[in-house]
Amino acid sequence: MSTQYEHILTSRPNPSVALITLNRPKALNALSTPLFLELNKALADADADQAIGAIVLTGSEKAFAAGADIKEMKDKEFSDVYKNNFLANWGEMSRLRKPVIAAVSGYALGGGCELALMCDIILASPTAKFGQPEINLGVIPGGGGSQRLVHAIGKSRAMELVLTGRMISAQEADQWGMVSRVTDNVLEEAIKMATDISSKGQIAVQAGKEVVNAAYELTLAEGLRFERRTFHGLFATKDQKEGMSAFAEKRKAEFTHS
Ligand code: CAA
Repeated sequence: MSTQYEHILTSRPNPSVALITLNRPKALNALSTPLFLELNKALADADADQAIGAIVLTGSEKAFAAGADIKEMKDKEFSDVYKNNFLANWGEMSRLRKPVIAAVSGYALGGGCELALMCDIILASPTAKFGQPEINLGVIPGGGGSQRLVHAIGKSRAMELVLTGRMISAQEADQWGMVSRVTDNVLEEAIKMATDISSKGQIAVQAGKEVVNAAYELTLAEGLRFERRTFHGLFATKDQKEGMSAFAEKRKAEFTHS
């Protein structure tokens, strides 16, 4: 039985792809706690579903997400946010094993920009606008933006976004290397990409995601060693035998994700 959600929509554009759509249109998909709890549940369910190879996360034409819910946060006290580790559950996304592709149209601000950055790949529509406007609210990013932006676009540009709150266009985000590309049919392209990834062996995809993400944490020498060991480990899978045999026999590989 499928779960009923209030703040998100879930669907299967095809059997191997999960699509999650943020759906608080009146609040420009502001990321309230109830929304994030639903998002985490839907992501965990998709991650655990053997039939799903990749996940697409999107919002509306006007907003991917306009940030954490300011109205929910405005009266919170330090003792409350500190004791209850406010926003810590946003980190659950980074434990997913399957790739998540963000299809971003409109505003991706504050927590919305951070949510896109938590995804593995970002595709942007020409209408997309990214920014970390928290400075205008008397705070700083709290969902990982200050750290992930430095990796994505470098220190000077990350510092500019965090300290000025300036919004950048999709084109600028593209030039800065923050997104994979800008495309008119962003959702369609994201679903196509997710379908393509789903046609690969899931074990190799999981390993690919793990080694790329390790580059955030490890030194070059450690990362190269981790990549090589993970590469070696894939020789224990049936998908490696099938993939390489299929190439040699000039046929399409039939991966069994084993
Ligand atoms: N939280 C709560 N409500 C929000 C919201 C947010 N982040 N962003 C927009 N809304 C609400 C507005 O209050 C408004 O509600 P009402 O109709 O009830 O007044 C509705 O969504 C539509 O918004 P606007 O009327 O403001 O729409 P606009 O087209 O004039 O402006 C916008 C769009 C420029 C995105 C503007 O809404 C805006 O600046 N939003 C806030 C962006 C922001 O500061 N985000 C950072 C949040 S803090 C954060 O994210 C912390 C973190 O690091 C985790």
